[in-house]
Amino acid sequence: MASLSSNYVIEFKIDVIKTLKIAGISTGLLTAIGLGAYYIHRRSQTSKRVILRDEVRNILRPFQLTEEQLRRVMANLNTEMTNALKVDDSTENDLAMFPTYVHHGPSGKESGEYLVVDLGGSNFRVSHVFIEGRNRMRLNNKIFLIPHSLLLGEGEKLFDYIAECLQRFIDDNKLSVLKAADYRFDLAFTFSFPCQQKSLREATLVSWTKGFSCTSVVGNDVVLMLQQAIDRRKNLPIQVVALVNDTVGTLMACSSNYRDCKAGVILGTGMNACYFETLDNIPKWKGTRDNQTKQVIINTEWGALGRNGCLDFIRTDIDRELDESSLTPHQQVFEKMISALYLGEIVRLIIVDLVQRSILFPGRMQKSPSIRPDYNIFLILRGSFYAKHVADIENDTTDDLSTTATILTSIGIHDPSYDDCFIIREVCKTVSLRAAKLAAAAIAVLINRLNMSSVTVAVDGTLFRHHEQFKQNLSRTLGRLVLRAHRLVLSEDGSSKGSALVAAVDRRLKTSPMAYEKNLPS
Ligand code: BGC
Repeated sequence: MASLSSNYVIEFKIDVIKTLKIAGISTGLLTAIGLGAYYIHRRSQTSKRVILRDEVRNILRPFQLTEEQLRRVMANLNTEMTNALKVDDSTENDLAMFPTYVHHGPSGKESGEYLVVDLGGSNFRVSHVFIEGRNRMRLNNKIFLIPHSLLLGEGEKLFDYIAECLQRFIDDNKLSVLKAADYRFDLAFTFSFPCQQKSLREATLVSWTKGFSCTSVVGNDVVLMLQQAIDRRKNLPIQVVALVNDTVGTLMACSSNYRDCKAGVILGTGMNACYFETLDNIPKWKGTRDNQTKQVIINTEWGALGRNGCLDFIRTDIDRELDESSLTPHQQVFEKMISALYLGEIVRLIIVDLVQRSILFPGRMQKSPSIRPDYNIFLILRGSFYAKHVADIENDTTDDLSTTATILTSIGIHDPSYDDCFIIREVCKTVSLRAAKLAAAAIAVLINRLNMSSVTVAVDGTLFRHHEQFKQNLSRTLGRLVLRAHRLVLSEDGSSKGSALVAAVDRRLKTSPMAYEKNLPS
């Protein structure tokens, strides 16, 4: 490490000085000799680093996107969005652009008690939400881990497990106490996967994403599957009243505070967006169209962009390698360049490439056979480097890159050199910056399509929440790509609170259908 080598140089200088002093040579001459030796040492270090950095630069160059490339991504995304609003044709269109049957934001008059099941990552959350009028919501929730075997096993078992956890939640919190014998909780199901909806409570899963791969769910109505699992438990008093994508929840939760909030974005394990679209712009819309129903939230499922090749001009060999070895080759191409589930893996694949070229950890495998197994785990095991590592290394501002060294050591790369750490930090910065720029390009398209004088975009997800550098790069790039006034607002607990709001708006409109006209956020 740098600090060690400079200590070594200082000690070396002091020893030389002592020896020469004994020989009677003057201090000025000593200083000149010392500095000379030091500069020779530095030059050899620096030139070594320049050679390394040039090679590294060549490898990273394809990840560095120009504004022109970003504008081409924007144009392609916009075209795909427009095409997919015309007709449902999954062979022609990259995007699904699913109408969600959510037509209205909250008015502030919603109220009541709801349960929410939020399933979208490797764990799921059950929430008990009280809505008490404008901006006032109380939420109590519990996270349940999903055993890995369930993510890849029989679908019915996954739904049975969810029902079992719901039962535990109700019992542990004594929610049924003081309820009438025939009381049934309204449950909103936040299900963050691509679903074709026929109504608020009918939703067919089109494909799994984000590493899920349960059998016998694709092609089925997931609302029905959850309801059937609930009913199998006999005394679980719950009716599923709404299916909500996490982006829609995020938008709804934020729009109760920001009247100009018309889009919701998730930048987390997966990535996606939704926005309010006028029905006149949706030729494929077959549902109600009247004075009270003029718009609908569209779930874009834009993570699928690129399936038909429109992103090939920026995809790298590493992107292709990652895609081919994923559970879902050729799907979610855009998502695989941006979302947290894949960022760490992109970095890992670049590191493996650099190791194979002997740029990183040169000679270490041979010199330290005892640590080979650890290195191998990292080098062979897909998914062994996380987005969190990318964020922490990118933020490493220590002089000796000790944070990076600690992280690398923790994943089995013992005692990395300063140069190793430096190069890996460059890789993390580059991959994260590309992701932030691409996310910005996509959000810019949304803002332009909404065509409002100013717009608030609700955002949630780990990348936006916890990856500060990503967030800054996103905002900076967005500022360059769009001229319209906009702000990105974190939607806290959006996917659960917002889903409860979807159920609440639906309940309110059923009991007083005209109520929304007076209260609709403009
Ligand atoms: C899913 C979307 C979801 C997004 C964020 C994607 O993989 O297809 O439905 O909104 O992840 O969770």
